[in-house]
Amino acid sequence: MKNFISIDDLSDFEKSVSEAIDLKNNSLKFNSLGKNKSLAMLFFNPSLRTRLSTQKAAQNLGFNTMVMNFNDEGWKLEFQNGVEMNGSSSEHVKEAASVISQYCDIIAIRAFASLNDKEADESELVINSFCKYSSVPIINMESATAHPLQALADAITIKEHKKTNRPKVVLTWAPHPKPLPHAVANSFVKMIKKINADFVISRPEGYHLNSKIEGQVNTTTDQEEALKNADFVYAKNWCSYKNYGKILKNDSSWKITSKKMNLTNNAKFMHCLPVRRNIIVSDSVIESPNSLVIQQARNRVYATQLILKKLIENE
Ligand code: CP
Repeated sequence: MKNFISIDDLSDFEKSVSEAIDLKNNSLKFNSLGKNKSLAMLFFNPSLRTRLSTQKAAQNLGFNTMVMNFNDEGWKLEFQNGVEMNGSSSEHVKEAASVISQYCDIIAIRAFASLNDKEADESELVINSFCKYSSVPIINMESATAHPLQALADAITIKEHKKTNRPKVVLTWAPHPKPLPHAVANSFVKMIKKINADFVISRPEGYHLNSKIEGQVNTTTDQEEALKNADFVYAKNWCSYKNYGKILKNDSSWKITSKKMNLTNNAKFMHCLPVRRNIIVSDSVIESPNSLVIQQARNRVYATQLILKKLIENE
């Protein structure tokens, strides 16, 4: 694996999930693998879990970490080729990526969708530019259209908590006051297609995902029907894909409540966090014994540890 940009970069996904669980059970087994090596973490957007879990994963393998918040600390980067740089951008990504590659062995990047321009977001200009101009491997810490480290952590969590070989997993849209990207939902759908699960997406009219992602998946606009007999309920908001970046629906009828969870097969509740309580999910659900949100966040460490290990071993 040269870079980790998508969940598809893992050649044997189910084996990788098992390997990550093995790392969790013996997290310091490879604690000299990263000796005298450095991981640079570049953030163009905020983070709690990704920043700290990636640092923890690196520490467990013996890496040094360097963190840079580009919006506050870095020169504003130019990503277009051949432009006269007489605007607000001070440095081209060609130099920046080459220079950062001199200081580290792996670069991890977070660069969210703008939600203004679908085509631009889908071109993944930031992460693809770093892939093109860096001389070291790149890890996606959430790009415009993908959050593969979250999806890998979610797969670990499902494997740890499933009670049947083929659990019913529901990805349900839930309301949010701000338009949010599709990255988490996209990578979750890609991931679920790789594991043995009975999968359905419930979302309101106008909220389908990119058909390249959602195609061949069961979808419904009837949330309560979807929740029946579910073993896992994964709640997530995303903005409209068709009316890109827009909020079409914002009422509380899609919120996950205890009453809705009663329709399920005593399902586990999942969310990637951060979550808006009592907008996406009621306090009673997120605080219930069936909530896995803290376990998901914990598993971010071992998902990232596996990816760092594979990249440094060139596996
Ligand atoms: N789930 C997740 O990526 O969390 P952060 O945005 O806090 O990193």
